[in-house]
Amino acid sequence: MSQTALRSARWFGGDDLAGFIHRATLHAEGISRAALVGRPVVGICNSWSELVSCNLHFRALAESVKRGVLLAGGLPLEFPTISLGENLMKPTTMLFRNLMAMDVEESIRAYPLDAVVLLGGCDKTVPAQLLGAASADVPAIMVTGGPAQPAVFRGRQLGAGTDLWHYADELRAGRMTREEFDELEAAATPGFGHCNEMGTASSMTSVVEALGMCLPGTATIPAVDAARQRAAEATGRRAVELAREELRPSRILTAEAFDNAITLLMAVGGGTNVVLHLLALAGRVGVPLTLDRFDEISRRTPVIANVRPTGKHLVEQLHRAGGVPALLKELLPLLCAEAATVTGRTLGEEVAAASVLDREVIARLAAPLAAEGGIAVLRGSLAPDGAIVKQSAASPALLRHRGPALVFEDVYDVQARIDDPGLPVTPESVLILRNSGPRGGPGMPEWGAIPVPQKLLRRGVDDVVRVSDARMSGTAYGTVVLHVAPESYAGGPLRAVQDGDPVVLDVAERRLDLDVPEAEVRRRLDALGPPEPRYRRGYGALYAEHVLQANEGCDFDFLRARPGEAAEPEPYGLLSGWVGGW
Ligand code: FES
Repeated sequence: MSQTALRSARWFGGDDLAGFIHRATLHAEGISRAALVGRPVVGICNSWSELVSCNLHFRALAESVKRGVLLAGGLPLEFPTISLGENLMKPTTMLFRNLMAMDVEESIRAYPLDAVVLLGGCDKTVPAQLLGAASADVPAIMVTGGPAQPAVFRGRQLGAGTDLWHYADELRAGRMTREEFDELEAAATPGFGHCNEMGTASSMTSVVEALGMCLPGTATIPAVDAARQRAAEATGRRAVELAREELRPSRILTAEAFDNAITLLMAVGGGTNVVLHLLALAGRVGVPLTLDRFDEISRRTPVIANVRPTGKHLVEQLHRAGGVPALLKELLPLLCAEAATVTGRTLGEEVAAASVLDREVIARLAAPLAAEGGIAVLRGSLAPDGAIVKQSAASPALLRHRGPALVFEDVYDVQARIDDPGLPVTPESVLILRNSGPRGGPGMPEWGAIPVPQKLLRRGVDDVVRVSDARMSGTAYGTVVLHVAPESYAGGPLRAVQDGDPVVLDVAERRLDLDVPEAEVRRRLDALGPPEPRYRRGYGALYAEHVLQANEGCDFDFLRARPGEAAEPEPYGLLSGWVGGW
C-alpha cells in the first residue's frame, strides 16, 4: 500500500507548511520522521483512570498494544478519553455513555489515525468506545481488560456483584452481623479487572467477541493473566494490518453480527444492559434492530453457560472451559458463521478449532440449563413500547403473576420506606418504581432491583415482582421487569399507577398489563401534567432533550445513522495542501 493511501498521510505526507507543522508536532515527542512517515498510525484509546478501578491496569495493557504495533511496523499513539467508573460516578454512568462515545468518535475522526485500538473494561466504557468507533468508521479493534480475580469470603469464591446483593439481603434479614459484613467489605475486591460474573461488563466483552470486534478468545482471559498482555500485543499487531486493509467497523457490524451477538447474550444469561447497548450500536450503523429481534432470538436460544448470576460459576471458569470461542462453537447451528470479524476471517472459521473443555460450565446445546434465552421482551398496557425481564435469573413461580401495585415515586422513596415495618406489602405485591428512566433518573440508573422489603425477608420471602423504568446491574437477580417504555417521566402509563391497581405479568405470553381502564389511565395522566425537567443547562439539558427511550437504546437522536447518508466527512481544516501563514 502506498503512503498516500494512509489516512494519516493527509497530515504527515505533504511537502508544504501543514505537513511541516504536523510532523514537527510529533518530533516534539521525540518521534523521528522515519518513525512517522509512511507507517500506519494506530491510536490507542485508553479509558484508564484512577476513578475506574476496573480499568486500573490499562497503562500496562497499552504498553503491550504499543509493542505489537511497533513489531508490525506501525506507530502507536495513545490518547485518553473520559472514563466511566460504574460504582463512583453519580447519578449513573449511563448518563455519560453517550458523552464518552462522542469523545471517542470525535477524537478518532479529528486526529491522524489509520486505525484505533479500544481499551475498555468497566460496564459503560466498552459500549461507549464501540459506539464512537462505529460512528467514526476508522478501522478499529478492541481489547478488553478481563475479569477481576475472584474474592474469597469464608471459603467461598465471590462474584463481584451477585454475591454482594445476596449478603446485603442476609444483613437486612438479620442473618448476618455488621461485623461479618465489614469482613466481607475488606475481602470483596482483591484487585483490578471488571466484574467477574456474567454481569454487564463480562456480557458486553463477550458480545464484543461475538460481534467480531476483538481477537477470538480474548474476552474472558483474567485481568491478571499474562496471556492478556500477550493478547494486547497481538491486538496491536492486528491493528496495523487493519489499517493497511482498511477493514472498517461498518464491514463487521452487520445485521448478521448483531444476531450472533444477541444469540451469545441469550446463551450466557447475560446482563440486560447489553440490550440497550446493542440497540444503540445498531442505530449507529443503520442496522434496523428492534426489541422484537431480541425476543425472537431468545425463544430459539437455550442458556448453555453455567455462570452467575444465572448459573453457578465465574467467568474465570468459563475461560478455562474454552471461553467465548467454545460457546460460539456450541452455538454454531444458531449463528451466522459467515459473519466477518476483525481478523479478516469469518466467525465460523475462527471458532472451527475451538472445543468445550468442561461440560459442567458449558452445556451441550441439546442439554441446556434452560430451554429459552435469558431475556424476554414484554409488551402490554403498562409498557406499550416494551419492557424486558431476565427470566433466567427470576423465580419461576412469579413469571405468571397478578398482584396489587405498591408504588414508589423514586429511589429516595424506596430508601425511606422499603424496610418500614408498617409497609403495606405482601408476597403478592408488585413493587413499582418510577421516575427512574432515561430522562427521569436521569440516565436510567440501576435501581430496578428494588430490595425485597425486610418485612418479607424475615418471613423467608426472598423475591417479589418488581417493575420499573430503570435498569438493573447485570449481576442482579430476581423477578425484575425493567426498561419500561415509555418511561414515566416521558408520560408513560407507569406514571399513572396507584397503590392497589392490579398489575399482571405473564412472561410466557410476553405481557405486562395494568388492569385499569385505558380512559382512567389517560384521565390520571392528564391530571398529573408533565414533570419538571431535571436539568436546565449543560450536558444534562442536552441529554434530556435528545435521549431516546430504552426501546431505542438510549442513544441521542442526532447520533444515529441517517438513512441514505454516508458517514461523516473527514475533518475540515488545515491539512496538507495548505501553505498559508500561522
Ligand atoms: Fe466496573 Fe463492574 S464495576 S465492571
